[in-house]
Amino acid sequence: MVKMAPSVLSADFSRLGEQIMSVENAGADWIHLDIMDGHFVPNITFGPLIIAGIRKLTTLPLDAHLMIENADDYLESFSDAGVDQITVHVEACPHLWATIDKIHSLGRKAGVTLNPATPVSLLEPVLHKVELVLVMTVEPGFGGQQFIPEMLDKIVFLHDFKRQHALDYEIQVDGGINETTAPSVVKAGATVLVAGSSIFDAAHIADAFQRIKNSAAVAAGQMT
Ligand code: DX5
Ligand code: ZN
Repeated sequence: MVKMAPSVLSADFSRLGEQIMSVENAGADWIHLDIMDGHFVPNITFGPLIIAGIRKLTTLPLDAHLMIENADDYLESFSDAGVDQITVHVEACPHLWATIDKIHSLGRKAGVTLNPATPVSLLEPVLHKVELVLVMTVEPGFGGQQFIPEMLDKIVFLHDFKRQHALDYEIQVDGGINETTAPSVVKAGATVLVAGSSIFDAAHIADAFQRIKNSAAVAAGQMT
């Protein structure tokens, strides 16, 4: 079964509790949190203080996607705020091996990710150490961008590598996911879908969530 991780980046933050409850009741598996610092990406979102508040709104796993420089310096703060898993960018973490070890030492699951122009082969040395690999299908920084179809090859690579080496990481996809693009990433091997604007910009959040989940489930059923 494909997991769904709604990104609250496009949520109405004045009604965040209500909107998280809508996706939780609709069957969300994780809540995806986009942390941006205005340096690694040209946008600023929120940090540990707000996450500690979000932690009280839901019992679902909190999935933090760090789009920040010097990520190593903040791992402990995000862990203390109550996130369950921390995903870092290979472009922002020159000592990725040690960063993953640090996330694990904090008792959190570790994920790695990469920008669209970064080759997926850069992640190969750490794939046996992580619980999650996130394929960015837009440039990180903003919600509501268009899915980049060339990224499907990265998903296929990660899916094949996982099989060949009997590994167990989730393959998460983030950016431009909606009911039209979800089937293609699922057929390529994605196991977790992040979706922001296609859920939270919709007139009815739970219905939009369900449509994406259904389109992913149909595609998963068609896989060989
Ligand atoms: C973009 C973020 C995404 C964002 C996706 O940098 O990583 O998680 O919320 O938004 P949509 O689903 O609107 O492309
Ligand atoms: Zn994200």
